[in-house]
Amino acid sequence: MTFDRVPHGPEPVPATDLHVAVIMDGNGRWAANRGWPRLVGHRKGAERVRELASACPSLGIRYLTLYAFSTENWKRSTEEVLGLMSLFARYIKREAGRMNREGVRLRFIGDRSRLDPKLSALCDWVEAETAHNTRFFLQVAINYGGRDEIARATRAMAQDVADGTLAPEEVCEALIGRYLDTSFVPDPDLVVRTSGETRVSNFLLWQAAYSEYVFTPVLWPDFTPETMRQILDAFHARERRFGGVVT
Ligand code: FPP
Repeated sequence: MTFDRVPHGPEPVPATDLHVAVIMDGNGRWAANRGWPRLVGHRKGAERVRELASACPSLGIRYLTLYAFSTENWKRSTEEVLGLMSLFARYIKREAGRMNREGVRLRFIGDRSRLDPKLSALCDWVEAETAHNTRFFLQVAINYGGRDEIARATRAMAQDVADGTLAPEEVCEALIGRYLDTSFVPDPDLVVRTSGETRVSNFLLWQAAYSEYVFTPVLWPDFTPETMRQILDAFHARERRFGGVVT
């Protein structure tokens, strides 16, 4: 296994190099409040993704990870699941050119094996198309669950031990990080959840060990770059000690 970069440990990062992860919640309620189908909320949510991704570099965010579809979301109606999958495909097709113009590297995290082969191939394609970009990193979690990711990483490590390419004594926190889907980016500094819910919902369980959390009542389709700017102002005012003391 080769890795582009080693995720950095629990230490402060420059304010221009932040990794923010977002649990985008509240699309359904936003639509229901207007008497509209849930998919309309998801479509508006996709517009917000586009806006936020473009604004991130000017906000000091270099890495953005978005929770778009969890391993539990398959329980939703077929219409909603298919609608979301086609939104993801449309987003990739429409945005690939702009991402290259804006220096965005797009990656998907989660178990791709359950996705429709066409969508999976599209994910592979856009990852390869944008692999050379380094200005901004966008990760989209599809069929993602933190426990599932840890189980897959553990299985891969066990396989490498069985194959003789990994010694059990080599297993340490940094090595586990490199087997996770997120091995290309540092751990998140901040995790934001919208819509007033205060659960972690199986998102980045390993990576968020030292992250700050912000829970905002704003529904995702109402979340603008200005909302993020206000959250970041509050985040920068917080003191991050990473288990140490301030001298
Ligand atoms: C949670 O809100 C949202 C989702 C499960 C889907 C998130 C998807 C998008 C924002 C759209 C497209 C994304 C990309 C990357 C193009 P919910 O539906 O559970 O809201 P509710 O709790 O109000 O019902």
